[in-house]
Amino acid sequence: MSFESSFIASKSFEDKAVVLRVDYNVPIEKGVLLDDERLLRSIPTIEYILKQTDNLKILTHLGRPSEQDSITEEFSLAPVAKRLGELLQKEVKLVDSIDELKSSNSLAMLENVRAFIGEKNNDDELSEKLGELGDIFVMDAFGTAHRKQASTYGIVNFVEEACFGLLIEQEMKALEKIVLSPDKPLLGIIGGSKISTKINVIESLTNHCDWLIVGGALANTCYAAQGKNIGKSLFEPSYLDVAKKIIEHPQIVIPTFVVVSNGSNVSEKSINDLSSEDVIFDVGQQSVEAFSQYIEDANTIVWNGPLGKFEDDRFSKGTEGIAKKIAEANAMSIIGGGETLAAFSKIQMMDSVDYASTGGGAFLEYIELGSLPSLELINKKNLGG
Ligand code: 3PG
Repeated sequence: MSFESSFIASKSFEDKAVVLRVDYNVPIEKGVLLDDERLLRSIPTIEYILKQTDNLKILTHLGRPSEQDSITEEFSLAPVAKRLGELLQKEVKLVDSIDELKSSNSLAMLENVRAFIGEKNNDDELSEKLGELGDIFVMDAFGTAHRKQASTYGIVNFVEEACFGLLIEQEMKALEKIVLSPDKPLLGIIGGSKISTKINVIESLTNHCDWLIVGGALANTCYAAQGKNIGKSLFEPSYLDVAKKIIEHPQIVIPTFVVVSNGSNVSEKSINDLSSEDVIFDVGQQSVEAFSQYIEDANTIVWNGPLGKFEDDRFSKGTEGIAKKIAEANAMSIIGGGETLAAFSKIQMMDSVDYASTGGGAFLEYIELGSLPSLELINKKNLGG
């Protein structure tokens, strides 16, 4: 399907009121914004629109608040609006109500849209109210484009025109290549903690990938399915049958050396030698070395999920070792997911990848399905459907 008619260049914003949905679901601790990557990635779209009109109304969610009348400090976008204002060198007015936003005709942002009643269940009443804010809706929240909610999906039915922002266009172009025509061999790397949240994407990646390295705590369920002693490591007992099927795929590669802690010592061990006290926290260096060959032979590498408990320096070396090998290799590399980006940022390897997607769940769903609900709906509108 062609998406050209949904790209921002096909629309004019002169003298129009524009509603822009972005994904500023960013880490904030005690009112301090810890990572502004998602803000930075939205700036080209905002500047593009502001060249044509001042009347720009921004919507985003932050976290997972309950729907309520007032927004608590924990879920307030105040630090986000402040930082965005600094980046744009313009005031970004933060408003509490949809009516207040409607009457604004300069740059303004609505408080956390996910706290509004009707957002999560894609309610028509809220979708209509949000649609009435402007003449044209620009969807640039790639990270939330897999959610069918009022501000990402329902709103499309209540605006004259709709299109994608520049970030979504960029994400689609980068990821489309992996989905439709990856330069083979394609190496997938998947980590993270729960097999239950990644099962569909693992299945889908086995269809696309020549090799798929499975690490992180989700590998623990695979070891348990192989009947290995994993000591006190975290795993999902109810997913053992699923893990058994996964490890039958010939593309699946699981580390055979792991870094464990028994409470007092940290050491690298073969997966066959764990004691009942051991807890697996990282992929071992011997496995990192063994994976070099796949990395060297691959022409494309796609990675989601850290391979160890990277927040702790003792357990970040597996992720770091693989990232370094990717940096030295020739393959085109694409990473995605909040934790993956945080891990790359911590080990200062962000510059070593070709593309970092702002999506987590959306990144995985795009790879799995080749599209996302919100993108489909907007495109259908533009194609006259
Ligand atoms: C994300 O950070 O992955 C997106 O903002 C989506 O957040 P959600 O999973 O709470 O919908």
